[in-house]
Amino acid sequence: MSSDERFVTSQTAAEESPQPGEAESVLAVVAKHHGEMAAKLREFARAAAQQKCSNGELQVTLGEAAKYLAGEILPHALAEENSVYLVARELGLGRLVEAMVYEHNFLAELIASLRSPLEADPAGVLRAIAEFFVAHAEKENRFILPICLSAASPITPEELLSTLAAEFRTAQHRSAAITPE
Ligand SMILES: [Fe+2]
Ligand SMILES: [Fe+2]
Repeated sequence: MSSDERFVTSQTAAEESPQPGEAESVLAVVAKHHGEMAAKLREFARAAAQQKCSNGELQVTLGEAAKYLAGEILPHALAEENSVYLVARELGLGRLVEAMVYEHNFLAELIASLRSPLEADPAGVLRAIAEFFVAHAEKENRFILPICLSAASPITPEELLSTLAAEFRTAQHRSAAITPE
């Protein structure tokens, strides 16, 4: 093998193998975003629990929470379904992905019930949304993302992150176009 051929072979191998630390840093970025969303949801739930007896304040908190859920949480879920979950399916996690999509739908139902005038305990629903989201996101951090960011993945960690971010922006734009102010 000539020195040129050796160079090409080693360059190709370097391109194919993940950069050290790249997967870990992408996992940290997504886990941090999950943590920020969970903290925000718990903040809304705490505020609503404290304002239960003051209808005016509670309505303001519920309005802000509804805006956040429509503008951040649901777009995040949709973005995952169009990026991370597709990769997970390719890697043989089809049944787990089905369960996770079921949880997205369950979360969407809880969110819809917040808007219903018939809901007797919206503060309780907010608490349920927050805690359910925490458990759901942790499953992604532990059981889905590490596999999607492994060497077996058809795309690089960087590509996975940029696809997730692009799908999130698209879903947010769509949500803004259909959500009443
Ligand atoms: Fe999710
Ligand atoms: Fe997530």
